[in-house]
Amino acid sequence: MAIQKVGVIGCGLMGSGIAQTAAQAGFSVTVREVNDELLQKGLSSIQKNLARLVEKGTLSAADRDQVAARLKGTTNIEELKDSDIVIEAVTEQLPVKRELYGQLDKLCPRTTIFASNTSSLSITEMATGTSRPDRFLGLHFFNPVPVMKLVEVVRTIATDAAAYEETIQFAEKLGKVPVRTGDRTGFIVNRLLVPYLLDAIRVLQDGLASVVDIDNSMKLGCGYPMGPLTLLDFVGLDTTYYIANVMFDEFREPRFAPPALLKRMVLAGWNGRKSGRGFYDYADPKNPKPVPLVF
Ligand code: CAA
Ligand code: NAD
Repeated sequence: MAIQKVGVIGCGLMGSGIAQTAAQAGFSVTVREVNDELLQKGLSSIQKNLARLVEKGTLSAADRDQVAARLKGTTNIEELKDSDIVIEAVTEQLPVKRELYGQLDKLCPRTTIFASNTSSLSITEMATGTSRPDRFLGLHFFNPVPVMKLVEVVRTIATDAAAYEETIQFAEKLGKVPVRTGDRTGFIVNRLLVPYLLDAIRVLQDGLASVVDIDNSMKLGCGYPMGPLTLLDFVGLDTTYYIANVMFDEFREPRFAPPALLKRMVLAGWNGRKSGRGFYDYADPKNPKPVPLVF
């Protein structure tokens, strides 16, 4: 049975992008947040993105209205019970995700595929908390979801081959390029990207160079679209901190250990762009200013 109805859980940075992308690809989407305030915040970022596409002339006003009509927000998890696939994009913390999957497992029919957008947590560990490890996989999108073409499709030893292929086809229908990978923490991209990002923090922490000079080095010297500290702010410092801890826990290699500065910034609530402050201050989002850091 082909996937038609898509449930998305979490309407933060990633969930809002996944919901938008699925609705634009013609799927009927229901997205769930924990409360109305966060739901409205996520939905309004989708509306802004769609409005920008209309302004640029890449989406007609009529198409925008159809996309909006296919997209429903809710705080009630029961409204996801008819989904053919549920894509979970909630906070990168295993207890939060496991509790959610316990609820979903009772609610959704046996045929529903569960897909986690986790960056680093074990898909197998999440799956074993449900009655359907065979219909459980990872679907790892990249930020910003409407723009980045890649999606990692993660198979565990228990994932059913037909459910896996169905999800690969679904990813293609979203306009993405799927890559196949197994269930080792960080999959392909974060295995390579996270040590690089953490090293950029260590370079700053060691006093070797300034925030702006580190970013310019990788942008202008290596052609990266964003410098590593800008990218860290973009991904979210809290999310990066959770990811680094999970990866260090699995590999026990110093290159995955979260630097002390990252921990301090997260403790201070400096979570990057989404909280208004990280390595840069986003009081004027179009003109971020490096934050003077004392360490
Ligand atoms: N949502 C939707 N669309 C967005 C967007 C957003 N948040 N931000 C930018 N865009 C769109 C713009 O509208 C623009 O579209 P058009 O080309 O149609 O006009 C396009 O993206 C380019 O944007 P800009 O011209 O404003 O800016 P840019 O050229 O600097 O590109 C960028 C912005 C695409 C984000 C680019 O800087 C980039 O590729 N950065 C690196 C992103 C990256 O590495 N992502 C992966 C993070 S790691 C991850 O996601 C995995 C994990 O588990 C942590
Ligand atoms: P975020 O903090 O922007 O959003 C997470 C959202 O989940 C929050 O709005 C929170 O209220 C919501 N949430 C928590 N529990 C919930 C529940 N039970 N039901 C509904 N909503 C709930 O985080 P994010 O950056 O969107 O990350 C979400 C997931 O995507 C994480 O697993 C992260 O590792 C992964 N991811 C993040 C990135 C990135 O660049 N930020 C990229 C790829 C994957």
